Amino acid sequence: MKLSLRDLDVRNRAVLVRVDFNVPLEEKDGAQIITDDTRIRETLPTVGFLRERGAKVILMAHLGRPKGQPTPKYSLAPIARHLADLLHAPVDFAPDCVGAEAEAKVAALVPGGVLLLENLRFHAEEEANDDSFSKGLARLADIYVNDAFGAAHRAHASTAGVAAHVKQAAMGFLMEKELKYLQGELADPPRPFVVILGGSKVSDKIGVIKSLMQKADVFLIGGAMAYTFDAARGIPVGKSRVEADKLDLAKEILALAEAKKVKFLLPVDSIETQEIKPGAATRATKEGAGVDEGWMGVDVGPITIEHFKAEIARAQTVLWNGPMGIFEIEEFSHGTFSIARALAECEGISIIGGGDSVTAVQQSGLAERMTFLSTGGGASLELLEGKDLPGVSALTEKA
Ligand code: 3PG
Repeated sequence: MKLSLRDLDVRNRAVLVRVDFNVPLEEKDGAQIITDDTRIRETLPTVGFLRERGAKVILMAHLGRPKGQPTPKYSLAPIARHLADLLHAPVDFAPDCVGAEAEAKVAALVPGGVLLLENLRFHAEEEANDDSFSKGLARLADIYVNDAFGAAHRAHASTAGVAAHVKQAAMGFLMEKELKYLQGELADPPRPFVVILGGSKVSDKIGVIKSLMQKADVFLIGGAMAYTFDAARGIPVGKSRVEADKLDLAKEILALAEAKKVKFLLPVDSIETQEIKPGAATRATKEGAGVDEGWMGVDVGPITIEHFKAEIARAQTVLWNGPMGIFEIEEFSHGTFSIARALAECEGISIIGGGDSVTAVQQSGLAERMTFLSTGGGASLELLEGKDLPGVSALTEKA
């Protein structure tokens, strides 16, 4: 068990908090506009708790992949302003995450004050997990808190290395919540346990499928990855996206599901089209017939949706990762949004495992009706695969 924020005495102490402020930005009239601030809002319980207890809060984060070079479009300055709005309190900004100026700004912090450091990835040493860079970060505080679940699968200086150079390294509240749902709740989930997987590639989900095959009662498979399974079973896929080099892997998974007596449901019909663009003409394929020649499968079909809804209605626990189709285009979005609605109506626990499926649930307006939405993409997949996350392993064990 790792140390938690609750276990710390933080009054008047500088606390260095790693957060994941890697949020989507759009340039508008020369300014960077945050298009989804969920990851920032989700850190407010940790920041608020520290401020209320009189800690000096130093936040550090990465944004984008600037490859070790200061890059204006990846500056965290707009995020500092946004955070100040959310906190209704000033947030100071240090134009570099290490060095004399950052140290001076930390020294000037008052209890309850908040400072955000510039993008960690402006230094190549961050991703290299360089030890002297970790020490440079650790010089800012005695206490380190990791609340950056979304980056916890990275063994970087700010997510892993720094922990070795501070007196105490603890989980923040968001980190705890993510681990509670994606690990704790799924260790022995109320049954039936239904896992819905979609997205384009079987190869992205293979680790999750193999790991959850030990626990799940039912898998519902959608997205383009379903066509790789169909191709492996000899069902026509037309021009659908298929991972031709993963057919043996798909067969292996199907055999594993059969051996373990796990229900592994693939779509029995699809929505097919001849062009991937808004307004494209679509039609549903015939049940069991596969995708027609010259056409591409882009969503699950209406019969499949009914089958999937019936499984979700019976479930006590549902985990969903990956859309059922190309939901960014309205004509191909029906399957994904139908699954979101079915989950909203499900009386069991509903856990949305990050990435595109979270975006889809938010767009559907049903986020409030889910038990939990993860802020992690790659991190949630690695956790579901049963891997240890470096950003968690590095933290102090509770005595
Ligand atoms: C994410 O957005 O998944 C995390 O912030 C990690 O970002 P990265 O994939 O660039 O390491």
